[in-house]
Amino acid sequence: MNVRTLAIANHKAGVGKTSTTHALGTALAQNGQRILLIDFDPQANLTAFCGVEDAAGASIAEVIGGGLPGKISPWDILREILPGLYLFLAPADLALAATELGLGGRMGREFVLRRLLAGIARGFDLAIIDCPSNLGLLTVNALTAANGVIIPTFPQVDALRNLWLFLGTLEQIRRELNPDLETLGILVTYFDPRLTHHRVAVEVMQAVRLPLMPIGIKRREIQAKVGEVETEEPTAIYLPNAPEEQAELVEVVERWAAKGHS
Ligand SMILES: Nc1ncnc2c1ncn2[C@@H]1O[C@H](COP(=O)(O)OP(=O)(O)O)[C@@H](O)[C@H]1O
Ligand SMILES: [Mg+2]
Repeated sequence: MNVRTLAIANHKAGVGKTSTTHALGTALAQNGQRILLIDFDPQANLTAFCGVEDAAGASIAEVIGGGLPGKISPWDILREILPGLYLFLAPADLALAATELGLGGRMGREFVLRRLLAGIARGFDLAIIDCPSNLGLLTVNALTAANGVIIPTFPQVDALRNLWLFLGTLEQIRRELNPDLETLGILVTYFDPRLTHHRVAVEVMQAVRLPLMPIGIKRREIQAKVGEVETEEPTAIYLPNAPEEQAELVEVVERWAAKGHS
């Protein structure tokens, strides 16, 4: 059996994929889960975020390979992220950009990450993949390997078009590559209930029945109405200033992950 795998994906940049991956992984590991974080973005932001600076030559790029399979075992690149926690990172490096180009000519190109994860399944309860901000072959590999996907997004009406496009891509992935891929939902990041355009955006998303994760939104709307929001900063579900939202997200993911193991 493969390791339960969650992709954090959206082809739009800056929506909170990397931050969500890191915060979610840390929180789940603190709850005793054996977590693998996979940086699958050539920009390697998650790797930098985790304080790993020497991944060149021993990153996920060398494990995946390019036109030919990689020569390094995944076990050889894993880094322990926080002492005392079962939380490991498969780091990325800019070489992953060349990997993506090379993969194009490879037989079984969409399934490379999925096969790789099967080989290390016994070590982890959950793998979380931080996807690049595009719909290239790395993202396709991540969505083909994943059991579930969370889609972080801005609370902006002009994000809708992107979301439709992304949801359409998920449909295609299900049809062609991974029928079991579950959408856990769209995660609204940067939500500030005091801003009318944020509230309107969420209302529109709800009205057109986008699969929003019900995290944070309702309670903060109510708080805003009765004037109880104290913070001056925009609230965001994964940040330390929003611990309740973070706990809700962790609970949703834990419930989902447990379902797969039963
Ligand atoms: N929910 C949020 N609220 C406020 N700032 C955020 C939030 N999510 C991300 N950020 C900030 O926005 C920037 C981009 O986030 P990041 O997680 O790197 O996005 P992505 O991986 O989707 O490109 C980072 O500087 C991060 O600290
Ligand atoms: Mg990122």
